[in-house]
Amino acid sequence: MYDAQAGSNACRPFRWPNLLNDSGRGLGYGGDYNPDQWPESVWDDDIRLMRQARVNMVSLAIFSWDRIQPSEDVWDFDWLDRIIDKLGKAGIAVDLASATASAPMWLYAKHPEVLPVEADGTVVHAGSRQSWRPTSPVYRQYALEVCRRLAERYGDNPYVTAWHVGNEYGWNNAVDYSPDAQRAFREWCRERYGDVQHVNEAWGAAFWSQEVRSFDEIDVPRHMGNDAMANPSKQLDFTRFCSDALRTFYMAERDVIASICPDKPITTNFMVSTDQCAVDYAAWSKEVDFVSNDHYFTAGEAHLDELACSDSLVSGFADGNPWCLLEHSTSAVQWKPINSRKRSGELMRDALSHVAFGADSINFFQWRQSRSGAEAFHSAMVPHAGENTTVFNEVCELGKTLRILGDAGLQGSTVRPSDVAILFSADAEWATRSQTLPTTRLSHWHGIREWYRALLDIGVRADVVPLAQDWEGYRTVILPTMLTLADADVRRFAAFVQSGGRMVVDYATGLVDESFHVGLGGYPGCGGGLLREMLGVRGEEINILGPVDGEFDLVRLSNGTVSRLWQNVVTSVADDATVVAYYDGVEAREWELQGVPAIVRHPYGEGETYYVGCDLNLDDLASVIGSEAFAEVSAQVGDPRFIRVARDTECGSFDFLFNRQSQPVTVKPDPAWATVLLEHRCRRLDDGTIELDRNGAIVAMDGV
Ligand code: GAL
Repeated sequence: MYDAQAGSNACRPFRWPNLLNDSGRGLGYGGDYNPDQWPESVWDDDIRLMRQARVNMVSLAIFSWDRIQPSEDVWDFDWLDRIIDKLGKAGIAVDLASATASAPMWLYAKHPEVLPVEADGTVVHAGSRQSWRPTSPVYRQYALEVCRRLAERYGDNPYVTAWHVGNEYGWNNAVDYSPDAQRAFREWCRERYGDVQHVNEAWGAAFWSQEVRSFDEIDVPRHMGNDAMANPSKQLDFTRFCSDALRTFYMAERDVIASICPDKPITTNFMVSTDQCAVDYAAWSKEVDFVSNDHYFTAGEAHLDELACSDSLVSGFADGNPWCLLEHSTSAVQWKPINSRKRSGELMRDALSHVAFGADSINFFQWRQSRSGAEAFHSAMVPHAGENTTVFNEVCELGKTLRILGDAGLQGSTVRPSDVAILFSADAEWATRSQTLPTTRLSHWHGIREWYRALLDIGVRADVVPLAQDWEGYRTVILPTMLTLADADVRRFAAFVQSGGRMVVDYATGLVDESFHVGLGGYPGCGGGLLREMLGVRGEEINILGPVDGEFDLVRLSNGTVSRLWQNVVTSVADDATVVAYYDGVEAREWELQGVPAIVRHPYGEGETYYVGCDLNLDDLASVIGSEAFAEVSAQVGDPRFIRVARDTECGSFDFLFNRQSQPVTVKPDPAWATVLLEHRCRRLDDGTIELDRNGAIVAMDGV
């Protein structure tokens, strides 16, 4: 059931789980532990190896509902009592799951009405996980009962130090078109709009006769035919609703646990990485006591950059507090068409990178590699080959390293902010997925990743910050493909630049408002003309390129860069604007773009804006923002061969340095480094420099 009243506006105060050592402090280390998938005879060996690896926390019972409630009237906690006891006595804290991510088969057999429905009306079958509707009152009742029983039984258990509610909400049920969803969507619309007239206005429903006369006429946007082109305003609202429905369900589970066990912090694992955006984590992060994330690496040259970009946003969601990496992989996953393994040293390098970006707890999926089931070929901390393995040795090595960093006082330190923020909004990402845009190749998140990487290429490490948060303290703010902007957002930007800020805006930013209505009067039209005024540009059309016979599929710019997809046809610039580059050359002439401004600077109030009116590939983007025209943006220049991040404490800071390249690089030890805590895959050379191998990293402490 969707509960439109649920949801607080206040953030839950930050709370962090204790470890089971004397101080309760230190960096967390462990993984998902599924003892119920193994004979009990393996458990003692698990604990022996966990101790060897210095594991100090595990997430338990995530998919154990059918073991806990084997049939409707039978509850079995004995096995869970035994394993929690064994773990606790070995000093391993338990992050206990609500066990509700995957329901037992008996529940689906008895209540098939909890199964989600796809857009074409197909009912999803049981047998995987998350095969339930977040809006189902039946499922909710069963799930809350499990939460209640677990909280009653383990709320006072000293070995249980945190609650892990659900698992990756939205992984397999991000959208649902069932009758329950339809009822809840109508409620959601009523809550958001008050009356149907406002719904009709927001959805531009006069188009194609889509006006509704009562809330009962509102349907979820099911499959309407292959060429249907769903109303983008309604589609965007439906995606928002789906995120809210899952969040409401999570909150109901959380509240049952919290009412019985108020003293222990509660979290749920997010899925922040640049290829996905199932739910709006800016709203979700207010509802957890500490933020947790699962991150799986992108194979290839973007590996470290992508990790850093995603983590930076997680740190943004955590609002400067430490967060918990609840899952990543020791090596390959098994769910992509091609599953690359990690190279030597990559396990440690990735884990340390998460630490550098604010993770105070590092965990893997999963502890022991499965023998059977869908994830048997997914890597784990204890691989099929056992303990005498490269992976397990690296797991032990990481355990040692995290202990050293924890003992050195890293826990609770804060990631030092950059001068440059790239803003993220789930609305913008969802809007760029619409099938009704000038091209279906837009992605806000990928735009962010490109800008993030281009900045790294010129030696600038940006922060990725949720649009809804405070970003006014940054010197430069970048909006990559922020397609949707509310009037209030544009007013905020204008005030920021007026008072001296620098703002960089790209080609697909500010075209539609939060209801997916196009801003009029010329592009970019959001903010009733204020965005155009601020940028000093006005465009009339959008030129889209692609593989079309007999047409050029690129356009060159006067600065030597090349655009391959999208060019705004800018027809006028303000008198005080500077055209940094224009379209130029045979292709530009052919497309009637010769001389059209492509990149424009404009002073506005005390500040300045930079407009990049076309797409550019990574190298070209880096060359533009590294150029003289963008000198202020790139003022804070470091060494592009590295990613460098500092975490600050009251008495000093931890400096993390990572080799971004696939070949070795050398660095001079920084005179500020009082102690070098770790040289991972590094070699001291005779001239005093340190050579960092591929996957090399240094962690040093300053001023302590
Ligand atoms: C996550 C999930 C885990 C496991 C992992 C494999 O999405 O939470 O249970 O399936 O992926 O990479």
